[in-house]
Amino acid sequence: MTALVSLEELETQALDSLAAIDQATALEAWYHHHFSRERGELTLLMRRIPQVEPSERKAFGQAVNRLKVRLEEAHAARQADLRSAALSAQLEAERLDVTLPGRVLPRGRRHPLSATLERIVDVFHGLGFDLAEGPEVEDDWHNFTALNTPADHPARDMQDTFYLADGHLLRTHTSSVQIRLMESTRPPIRALMPGRVYRRDAVTSRHYPIFHQVEGLVVEPGITMGHLKGTLTVAMQALFGRDRAVRFRPSYFPFTEPSAEYDVQCICGGEGCRICSYTGWLEVGGCGMVDPSVFEAVGLDPSEVQGFAFGLGAERIAMLVHGIPDIRLLWENHERFLEQF
Ligand code: PHE
Repeated sequence: MTALVSLEELETQALDSLAAIDQATALEAWYHHHFSRERGELTLLMRRIPQVEPSERKAFGQAVNRLKVRLEEAHAARQADLRSAALSAQLEAERLDVTLPGRVLPRGRRHPLSATLERIVDVFHGLGFDLAEGPEVEDDWHNFTALNTPADHPARDMQDTFYLADGHLLRTHTSSVQIRLMESTRPPIRALMPGRVYRRDAVTSRHYPIFHQVEGLVVEPGITMGHLKGTLTVAMQALFGRDRAVRFRPSYFPFTEPSAEYDVQCICGGEGCRICSYTGWLEVGGCGMVDPSVFEAVGLDPSEVQGFAFGLGAERIAMLVHGIPDIRLLWENHERFLEQF
């Protein structure tokens, strides 16, 4: 029976040391010590069974088995205790006060100017216009000369220009992209050219030295002023509302002939209000039939192709659509302004 007595001792020791364990790693070591396949206490006991006196062997084997079961159960129970203790500790540490008011996360949104540009591009995309781009640092040829505005032309005064030391300039309008496009692409052309332009203007509520224009150009045989008026009327009504009339006034640009400026009926319905300075109309941009000398400058024969072009100011459209009273608001980017859109 000595063998059985030492089993009892082993059990007491094992259970005592198990009870003292409060770490998962120590628990693992304990398990290894008792159950490892090579040198575990229980493994060694099992191996001893065949050497026990035959008369005691059965009782000893049963006792070892019972011990094994009890220790395994004790281990499982201890493991469950440690896990639930760890979970409670974690829950305690991460305790949430569900009565605290929530924190509102700021939500990003499109800048009103970006949204307007996207809307304009979208409208003309629906009319079959592709997108084109050109550089903001331009040469004199593309910004002026090829647009029938030679160096001594008085129309250069219409747009005060930023010149760079090397003779380049910051483009004063997106019409320069027309020239680049006609130089690189053969008609038919139907393109929309959005981009930043620069003018030496004093900053006021309506002028800013950087702004965005969207240029449109259509070139193919047989294009008339009727196409121009139809296209702009449909596009402006898509932007401002189908009930808004569009009108064309004779005007002058060196690169179009005839030239016009186009207006959209004011939100007041034409009666006159502060927004339209009591005229009933809102000026949107300039347009006209591509001047023959522009075609010649880019190597196209004006007797073979015709075209129309237009420009519009994106800030102006954003201001008119949203009732924004001051162009500077679009550049200052105060959150209280931006979050209204
Ligand atoms: N480029 C002209 C401007 O900036 C606008 C315009 C574009 C006029 C195309 C006619 C044709 O004022």
